[in-house]
Amino acid sequence: LVASMEQVEETYIMVKPDGVQRGLVGEIISRFEKKGFKLIGLKLFQCPQDLAEEHYIDLKAKSFYPKLIDYITSGPVVCMAWEGIGVVASARKLIGSTNPLQAEPGTIRGDLAVQTGRNVVHGSDSPENGKREIALWFGEGEICEWTPAQAPWLR
Ligand code: TYD
Repeated sequence: LVASMEQVEETYIMVKPDGVQRGLVGEIISRFEKKGFKLIGLKLFQCPQDLAEEHYIDLKAKSFYPKLIDYITSGPVVCMAWEGIGVVASARKLIGSTNPLQAEPGTIRGDLAVQTGRNVVHGSDSPENGKREIALWFGEGEICEWTPAQAPWLR
């Protein structure tokens, strides 16, 4: 009954350029897989300037915005869409606080990062932004809705 009150949601998760270059892609994907969320979109992608600016439009007035855009466009990112009950808030918990020094051990940023400006991963902050960001980063046909087969793969 409690679970039925919770919504199936979608969130946009992205391994930032530092995460890709430090070889943390598998580690980060693994945390969402092990938690039990469903991967519905995945690609390695060099983000153009205009897309980075649109993604972080709410932060345009911040002093760190230009450096943030430089960082996100500095090399390829891994774009992911994940689906599941309560996935937006749960992914934020798995990721940890924005400042990795304040992120709890056991979280991705708490375990794997030091600097706010190099915090290895992004996760949408609301179901609305999850939808907005997935539509921004993925084209039509790049999101795959699927149902697990009942096949005995290992027998
Ligand atoms: P924000 O949306 O506040 O954090 P989060 O990624 O945890 O949702 O900020 C977006 C990114 O901007 C953040 O991941 C890293 C960068 N940033 C800075 O470089 N300096 C800052 O002081 C803040 C708040 C964010």
